[in-house]
Amino acid sequence: MRVYQLAKEIGISNEELLRILEQLKVKVKDHKSQIDEKISKKVKEFIKNRGKNVKPIKKIKIREGITLRELADKLQIKAKNIIQRLFNKGLLITVNQGIDSSLAEEISKEFGIEIELMSIEEERLLQAEEKKEDLVPRAPIVTVMGHVDHGKTTLLDAIRETNVVAQESGGITQHIGAYKVNIDGKTIVFIDTPGHEAFTRMRARGARVTDLVVLVVAADDGVMPQTIEAINHAKAANVPILVAINKIDKPEADPWKVKNQLAKHGVVPEELGGDVVCVEVSAKQKTGIKDLLEMILLVSEMLELKANPKIPAQGVVLEAKLDPKRGPLATVIIQHGILRIGDAFTSGICFGKVKSLFDENGVKLKEAGPSTPVEVLGFNSVPTAGDFFQVVSNLEEAKKIVNFRLSQLEKKKVARPRRLTLSDLYKRIEEGEIKELPLIIKADVQGSVEALLDAIPRLSTEKVKIKIVHAAPGPISESDVLLASASKGLIIAFNIRPSRRILEVAEREEVEIRFYNVIYKLTEDLKKAILGMLVPEEKEVYLGTAEVKRIFKVPKVGIVAGCYVTDGKIVRKERVRIIRDNVQIHEGIIASLKRVKEDVNEVSKGFECGVAIENFNDIKVGDILESFKIEKVKPQ
Ligand code: GTP
Ligand code: MG
Repeated sequence: MRVYQLAKEIGISNEELLRILEQLKVKVKDHKSQIDEKISKKVKEFIKNRGKNVKPIKKIKIREGITLRELADKLQIKAKNIIQRLFNKGLLITVNQGIDSSLAEEISKEFGIEIELMSIEEERLLQAEEKKEDLVPRAPIVTVMGHVDHGKTTLLDAIRETNVVAQESGGITQHIGAYKVNIDGKTIVFIDTPGHEAFTRMRARGARVTDLVVLVVAADDGVMPQTIEAINHAKAANVPILVAINKIDKPEADPWKVKNQLAKHGVVPEELGGDVVCVEVSAKQKTGIKDLLEMILLVSEMLELKANPKIPAQGVVLEAKLDPKRGPLATVIIQHGILRIGDAFTSGICFGKVKSLFDENGVKLKEAGPSTPVEVLGFNSVPTAGDFFQVVSNLEEAKKIVNFRLSQLEKKKVARPRRLTLSDLYKRIEEGEIKELPLIIKADVQGSVEALLDAIPRLSTEKVKIKIVHAAPGPISESDVLLASASKGLIIAFNIRPSRRILEVAEREEVEIRFYNVIYKLTEDLKKAILGMLVPEEKEVYLGTAEVKRIFKVPKVGIVAGCYVTDGKIVRKERVRIIRDNVQIHEGIIASLKRVKEDVNEVSKGFECGVAIENFNDIKVGDILESFKIEKVKPQ
């Protein structure tokens, strides 16, 4: 076995393993060097004991790219001692040098302190909120959500127009991602892109922008699947909901029916004894808009929203693009501080100096304070929506931070919370890290959803509570994955298979999807996971996807599907799944695989092939074949 293989197996970096080998006085050249079974045993033993001997006595948060001196201050240990330790490991680092996060973690552990990484923005935010005396009230930031065609866009337009007329503003309105509305001398900010998907995408990136969700429900249509989704997304984010019952002008409008339906989904209107404000509006005829705005102000006053204008400005990127004439630009919503022309900033792996600022009417601004959406020019490249935006002392510092982030990115060690998997649930419960298991449940039919909703919550124990964030019939969507990612939970897929694209999104977001066909197996796994008895015995490895283009009847063989391989490869004798309209209809084995007329072992992307599946003849044109194999996973 080679060093990097062992590192991968035990889940540490090559660098860390090399350091351990050095401590164990094992001489190796680099990560490609061969090591034998004895050494690998020794390393595993060492790692096991290292965790045991030094119990972390406390937990502290450190910022990414911290220097050695800053780390020493945080740990309350003399810098000299850390340098000595590092020197013993063969590393020469001076006090002013930045220290790699995994190294910082390792060192701190040796001193009995566990560290948690945070970004510079998180650190600044903590500082911002600590200084209570500097906090001032700020305007609420609102996102509009609701089912397709219930009138979100029309409502946003109506609000905007009403306001433009009231202000008699002459500027040309631009869609920059958000706009401000003034009512009775107070301000409300509306995010321009409606819908819960954009909302949760931001949240999955760690940004919290929205203070209040306006849920639009058409009075003639009532609560629909995406209304429920929107409710669950808002609830998962802990953002209060205000309901706009729209299309009240329609003769078939029935606001009471809507209110009763909402109550059934846990959004209980005031009229029914709950605390949710409902306002009846017609976005088309522009009635009730002023009431809605006043209610938004009333509800937000109770939220006591505050900002600290005295710290260096920080916010979140709402939208970003490359303008052919003006270069990279982004709409940033400022959360704390005041952004001014000339300020140096970072945003994700972008940086820059503010060249100019514009509001949503294209008016040039000199500065922008808390709860202001502002178009910022001066980025070196296009940032990503949902990334934080942070003013720093100068361009040099901005570049330094971005360089650090790029170097971390290369090592794939971005400061990012660890995602949850079912097999390490127990460990994380024991570590006291989690007390809840958030689940998103998707199943083939409503009946399955109900059966799961009946069976799963009962498995909650004193130590861990199972929290169903969202449950619905239908295929897994991108917004489900984002919701799981933002809620730090996982997805249960019952009798359904996601598309390749969704699997990729899940992989990128590091969201685990567990597949089941029988409820019993699912509840068993959940019970075991909670008790720490779930051993990952087998792992599925994806091989490829093919689409069925034609069907042949071949004597003696049976039905053969003429397929086109769209991704990866199809492999004979391996397992295959047949998916029709996102639902798995069969799982079996590829009995024969032909390319032209030859028997072959595998066929790759871009080629056609003939596939026969063992004991299965019900294949149809348009079906998707997903080839995969099962690998045994060694218990850790
Ligand atoms: P998506 O973006 O597709 O999810 O839809 P949406 O929620 O943004 O709905 P949109 O604003 O596009 O409105 C859908 C349809 O409903 C349009 O034809 C609107 O004219 C109509 N509509 C919106 N509000 C009202 C209303 O208050 N009354 C009536 N009668 N029609 C409305
Ligand atoms: Mg719309």
